[in-house]
Amino acid sequence: MPDPLHHKHILITAGPTWEMIDPVRFLSNRSSGLMGFEIAKAAAKAGARVTLVTGPVSLPDPKNVDVIRVVSAREMYRECLKYFPKCDIAIMTAAVSDYRPAKVARHKIKKCLDTPPSRGMTNKSMTLKLVRNPDILATLGRRKKTHQTLIGFALESRNMLAHAQDKLRRKNCDLIVANAVPTLGSPAIEATLLYNEGRAQKLPRLSKPRLATRLLKVIVALPTATR
Ligand code: CTP
Repeated sequence: MPDPLHHKHILITAGPTWEMIDPVRFLSNRSSGLMGFEIAKAAAKAGARVTLVTGPVSLPDPKNVDVIRVVSAREMYRECLKYFPKCDIAIMTAAVSDYRPAKVARHKIKKCLDTPPSRGMTNKSMTLKLVRNPDILATLGRRKKTHQTLIGFALESRNMLAHAQDKLRRKNCDLIVANAVPTLGSPAIEATLLYNEGRAQKLPRLSKPRLATRLLKVIVALPTATR
C-alpha cells in the first residue's frame, strides 16, 4: 500500500531567523534547525514533495527536499506565503524572531566615545528600537483551507500547556507540539501534542529523528490530512 504522504506537498519551516542591526550584528536565538530538517527528511522518505524554508543553520540540504535558505523573518514569511496555497500540510518548527530593529544601520554602529550622542546612544547605554515581525503561522492559520493541515510548535519556559493551548487556538492550528526550552539545540525532545479538539498527549523523550517519524504518523491520522 502506498504511504499516505506519497505525493502530498509539505511545507516546513526550520531554524532561527537573523534580524540585522548593522552589517555585522543581528538579533537571533539558539535554534539549531534540527527538528525541521529531520521532519523534512522523514517526509521526503515517505514520498512527500517537501519544501523546507530555513533560516541560517549549519545543516546540509536533506536528500530529495527543495531547500530555500532565508535570513530574516520577513523573507521566511514571503516564501511561506508563496508555497502555502499549493501545499497540503504545513509544519512550522522555526524559531522566528518576533521583533526586528526598526532601522538597519548602513554602517557598523560605533561606540559613542567622543562623538556627540546619537541614535539613542550615550557613553554608558544604547537603546535599540524594535518593531514586530509578521507571524507566519498565524497568517497561514487565517488563510488555511479545509483540505489543509497546519501544525505549529510552541517553545515555552513556563506554563507550557496553557501557553501552547492558547497558540493552538489563536493561530488556528490542527495540532501544536509543545516543548520546553532545554529542547533548543538538543538532540532529543520531550514533547506534548495538543490537538484542536482539546486532547493532550505527552510523548516520551525521543530523539529528533524519532519524533519526526512519530509526528508524521500522527499528522496523517488527523481528519484534515486524509481529505
Ligand atoms: N511563529 C511564526 N512566526 C512568528 C512567530 C512564531 O510562524 N513570527 C510560529 C513558530 O514557528 C511556532 C509557533 O509560531 O510554530 C509558536 O512560536 P513561539 O515562538 O513558541 O511563540 P510566539 O507566537 O512567538 O509567542 P511568544 O513569543 O509569546 O511565546
